[in-house]
Order: sequence, then C-alpha cells, then structure tokens
Amino acid sequence: MSQVAATSGYNVTLVEVNSGLLENAQKNIKKSLERVAKKQFKDNDAGQKKFVDEVSQRIIGSVDVKSTIKSTDLVIEAIIENIKIKHELFSSIDSLAPAHTIFASNTSSLSIAEIASVTQRKDRFGGLHFFNPVPVMKLLEIIRTADTSEQTYNAMKSFGESIGKACITCKDTPGFVVNRLLVPYMAEAVRLLERGDASARDIDTAMKLGAGYPMGPLELADYVGLDTTHHILKGWNEKFPDEPLFKVNPMLEKLVSEGKTKMSKEGSLSVKNVTIFGGGQ
Ligand code: 3HC
Repeated sequence: MSQVAATSGYNVTLVEVNSGLLENAQKNIKKSLERVAKKQFKDNDAGQKKFVDEVSQRIIGSVDVKSTIKSTDLVIEAIIENIKIKHELFSSIDSLAPAHTIFASNTSSLSIAEIASVTQRKDRFGGLHFFNPVPVMKLLEIIRTADTSEQTYNAMKSFGESIGKACITCKDTPGFVVNRLLVPYMAEAVRLLERGDASARDIDTAMKLGAGYPMGPLELADYVGLDTTHHILKGWNEKFPDEPLFKVNPMLEKLVSEGKTKMSKEGSLSVKNVTIFGGGQ
C-alpha cells in the first residue's frame, strides 16, 4: 500500500509497532520496487536505481503514531484483524488527527461501522480494502457505512483512482464482495479435500485450468494464509452461526495446526488409443 501510494507521488508515513517490523516492511517494499523497476526500466540500471530511490524517499518510516498523525489527510489502517486492537488504535488517534482527516480500514472481514464506533468521526470513516500482492492486483474495494459521508466516499474513490486502482463500492457487509465469495470458495475446496473427492494438487489444477484462475483455491488459501482464512471463517461463524457457508471444517483446523496445504501425488494410468462417441469438437 505504501509502495503503491508513493509510486503515485504521495508522501507516505509508514507506521509500525517496532523498529524490527519497520525494517522488515521497508526491505519488502524495496524488493518489490526493484521488481517493478526491472520491468519498467529494462536494461537501464540507472533508471531502475533512480525509480527505486525516488519512490523509497517518499516513504518515511515511523514507530511513533502520535507525532505522525498530526499532519495527515488519510489514515489507512492495516494492522492485525482484532477488533479490540483496532479500537485501541483508532480511539488513540481520533483526538490527535486533524478534523478533516479520513480514517480507513483495510480489514478483510470485520465490520467497518464496528471499527469506527470508537471514533467521533463516523462520517469520515470508511473501508479501503486492497488485495495481495497490492502492486499487482488492480482492485480496490471502497466500503461505505450508513454514516460515511458523500464527501468522504468521493475522496476515498479519488484516492483509489489516483493510485491506479479500479474501484468498486460495497456496503459494510461480511467480507464485502471479494472475500464474501472467495473465503467460502476456499473453505469448500478444503471440504472437497476432506471428503477425499480429489487431491489438493488436482483441486488446484482444476480451478487454474478449468476456470482460468491464476491460483487454485488451496494454493490461494496458503497464499492468503491458512490462519487468516481460518480466522475469518471462525469470526463470521461466531457472528452468523446459521450461515452454512461460514462453517469451519475439521480439516481446515487440522491444516492450520500443521501448516499443511498439499497432499502427495497420485499414480496414473497410461492411455494410448482413444475412441470418442459424438461430441464433434
Ligand atoms: N511486487 C511487484 N510486482 C509483483 C509482486 C510484488 N510483490 N508480485 C508479483 N509481481 C509481478 C511480477 O513481477 C510479474 O510481473 P510481469 O508478469 O510483468 O513480469 C507478475 O506480478 C506475475 O508474477 P510472477 O511471474 O512472479 O508469478 P505469477 O505469474 O505466478 O503471479 C500472482 C503471481 C500475481 C500472485 C498470481 O498468482 C495471482 O494473481 N494470484 C492470485 C492472487 C489473488 O487472488 N489475490 C487476492 C487474494 S485475497 C486478498 O488479498 C484479500 C485479503 O483480505 C485476504
């Protein structure tokens, strides 16, 4: 997020809870910028370096929330998916941030209105939900609650467009659009695996080659983080116990505890001669 905003010319302050995490984030941004630079400035080492240096310079690292919050127009929170910790952060910065500052959460699954409830700026609060890897994925979900003002919504949308994202708007509902569809889909893939209907490799191959998805559902669950996928489902299940799509199955619990997603390969039969009845294609 910091990288994408800084690439589009914004001055960004990246705040982490400690210097170790900050250093790590800065290293990851540098690696990702180098990847982009290699593509944009092919065979031009000086151009690559200039790009990486210029964008990096627009990202100031900080571990001091209070001093950085005083001169910002937009806060994007992308911390741990824990409502209590999000509440602590937003209630601590609400009185320090300028009155016009918009607060946004990048939550994957929590309610924006519930996160905003501890602030006095519910009209200047919304969701900006990015997708991984952020520099590559074109989509940005913009979430408006019943309290988000038109002015705030328009400012969030203009920001999204200015950083090159395709923006869609969604009400403050569990998982918004993408995760509401994607998380039950990944969970269903784990159920297929659990029933022994197909191997993990075949489930992934099926959706890549049969539906054109860049990653299979189990590969994607691994990429998003099995623990994250599990955490989202568990949270929704607690809130909406009657929704069958939000049920957490035992294999997901087991996979999370073991950190596994892949099963062993199966043997195959070889085919030499083929007979086809009808079809014509
Ligand atoms: N920074 C910059 N560029 C990156 C990058 C990064 N971190 N990661 C990948 N790229 C670029 C590569 O340079 C490459 O560019 P090129 O094609 O122009 O050379 C391109 O992206 C593709 O990367 P790779 O060739 O390394 O690998 P793949 O072709 O296998 O693509 C992928 C990797 C983009 C991750 C692709 O597999 C994909 O789109 N997967 C699906 C991702 C997805 O569904 N994300 C959403 C997850 S849900 C979510 O985030 C919501 C949250 O709330 C849970």
